[in-house]
Amino acid sequence: MIFDTHAHYDDDAFDEDRESLLSSLPENGIGGVVNVGASLSSCRQTLALLEQYPFFYGAIGVHPSETAELTEESFAWLRTAAKTARVVAVGEIGLDYYWEEPDHKTQKEWFHRQLALAGELGLPVIIHSRDAASDTLQILKEHQAEQLGGVIHCYSYSLALAKEYEKMGFYFGIGGVVTFKNARKLAEVVTYLPLDRIVLETDAPYLAPVPLRGSRNSSVNLPYIAQRIAELKDVSYEEVIKRTCENAKKLYHLNGAEYARSYNNAD
Ligand code: NI
Repeated sequence: MIFDTHAHYDDDAFDEDRESLLSSLPENGIGGVVNVGASLSSCRQTLALLEQYPFFYGAIGVHPSETAELTEESFAWLRTAAKTARVVAVGEIGLDYYWEEPDHKTQKEWFHRQLALAGELGLPVIIHSRDAASDTLQILKEHQAEQLGGVIHCYSYSLALAKEYEKMGFYFGIGGVVTFKNARKLAEVVTYLPLDRIVLETDAPYLAPVPLRGSRNSSVNLPYIAQRIAELKDVSYEEVIKRTCENAKKLYHLNGAEYARSYNNAD
C-alpha cells in the first residue's frame, strides 16, 4: 500500500476533477494520504476532505509564506482545528527565506508558536524550510523537536545537515525532485539515509516526477519516486513501498487498528 505523506488536494488545480480523482486513489494502490494545510483557508478545506474520504488524514498549520494572516483569534481557531479527529500533525510550518515577505521576524514568531502548539497537543510536525537551514535547526533545537518528532518536507539541504536531522529522529519527505537529473545532492542524501527514515510525498499539485515533470502532480505518480529510491538504495521497488508505508504510520502515530479501519471503509 502506497502512503502519500504530503499533498495539497484543496488546491484550485483539482477543482475540475477532485472528486473523481480522489475516489479513484484506493483502486490505484494509494492507501493513505495526508492533506497538509498551508493557510487558514486550506486548513478549513483539509477538515472538509477528512469528512469526505476515510483514507485521508490531515495536518493543520500555516506555511511560513502565509504567516502574515495569523492573529491571536485565527491562531485560537487553528488550535481547535488541530484537535479534530484524524488530524495527525501540525504543518506545514517553518521558515522560507527565498521570498522577502513576510519578514523573518514574523515567520520566526509563528514558527515558534506552532511548534509550541504541536508540543501542547502531542503531535508531530511537518517542516518546510527553504534557504533558512541554520535558523530552522536552531529553532527546532530550542523546542526539543526530537521529542515532538516529524518530517522534513521536500528535503533540500546538505548531507551533513541530513545527519543532524537523522540524529534527532526526523523522517525525510522524498518526492518528485529525487527523479530530476540535476538533483545530485538529494540523490547523495537518499543513498546515505537508512530506509527507515524515508517517507514518500508528492506535494501535489507541485513537483511531478520525471517523466511527468511540469504537469499537475497527484498521488498516483508516487511509483516513479519509489522506483528511483529503489535504484539509489539498491533494494526492490516492493521493499520501498512497504517500508515507507510503515514509516508513514510511525511518523503520524497511526496505530494498526485505526489505519486498517479507515482503509476498509475506503473500499
Ligand atoms: Ni507542501
